[in-house]
Amino acid sequence: MRVLGIESSCDETGVAVYDSERGLLGHALYSQVELHALYGGVVPELASRDHIRKAVPLIDAVLERADTALWELDGVAYTAGPGLVGALLVGAMLGRALSWSLSVPAVAVHHMEGHLLAALLEPEAPRFPFLALLVSGGHTLLVEARAVGDYVILGETLDDAVGEAFDKTAKLLGLGYPGGPALARLAESGDPGRYRFPRPMVDRPGLDFSFSGLKTHALQQLEKVGGDAREQAHIARAFEEAVVDTLYVKCRRALQETGLRRLVVAGGVGANRRLRERLAALDAEVFYPQPAFCTDNGAMIAYAGLLRLQAGHVAPPQVSVRARWPLDELDPLAA
Ligand code: KG4
Ligand code: ZN
Repeated sequence: MRVLGIESSCDETGVAVYDSERGLLGHALYSQVELHALYGGVVPELASRDHIRKAVPLIDAVLERADTALWELDGVAYTAGPGLVGALLVGAMLGRALSWSLSVPAVAVHHMEGHLLAALLEPEAPRFPFLALLVSGGHTLLVEARAVGDYVILGETLDDAVGEAFDKTAKLLGLGYPGGPALARLAESGDPGRYRFPRPMVDRPGLDFSFSGLKTHALQQLEKVGGDAREQAHIARAFEEAVVDTLYVKCRRALQETGLRRLVVAGGVGANRRLRERLAALDAEVFYPQPAFCTDNGAMIAYAGLLRLQAGHVAPPQVSVRARWPLDELDPLAA
């Protein structure tokens, strides 16, 4: 079975073709980062319009790369949520239109399930069950993944997502958007012990997160040091240390509570080097998708869609997307 995947939930248009026998045949990504950088964050209406401009040429390019004609597709998978409604609608309309015109099934994919399954695209794929830490610009989730579609949410953020906290703090440091990678670079030259940041919610039982306080703490410290570049680097380092430490403590607790021995980390923040170093100390085997599939991409959508189509899950013939869509509302694959 050969499936076209379309991702358009936020500021990246991702397209891929995945074949059940031959694996990933082609993929491409168009990032709108430059478009939104001007405004310091994603502007939803601009995102939708840019998806409209880029999606069709990207589909053409990926089909060519995958040496696949439209009529050779057996199904179409598109991200139906959670995300920006206008942006989601672009991928959903295209996916639906292709499905109707080619008379093949279409399947609505949950964006976070895509992230969670991205590690399964690797040759050394984790077996179920596993713990998943999903850390992106829009989400922070700890999930017990029992099987495809069978997810228990163990913890989530009560305010900012972890990537959002990185981006907001980077903005305070004048580092542009998205600032996570730039903040991590600045932190390299800082001393972690110079400033002491709180570890939000680690003293309390439970697995939820809260990151907005760290951003406020960073603001207070930054105001005290003015524009001193050395001190700014120390503050960036202490901020990163606090985030990494908090994620580590919660993962360790979740592994202990569930008895799981495998951890999958996905989402853009999973690229953070210090986080990877720290999680390596856990009493668990840790899996990451390859860097290109840690962030938003079409491959994870094509793959998640393939698994659902193979199991006979077909979305009803209507274009519907969801801005909010709890991961634990999904159905397991087995009937
Ligand atoms: O998964 P993703 O590409 O998009 C969303 O679905 O949100 O994640 C993007 C987020 C941004 O907030 C970005 O600043 C953050 O991931 N990020 C990082 C690093 N690389 C990306 N945060 C910290 N350290 C990094 N190296
Ligand atoms: Zn994402």
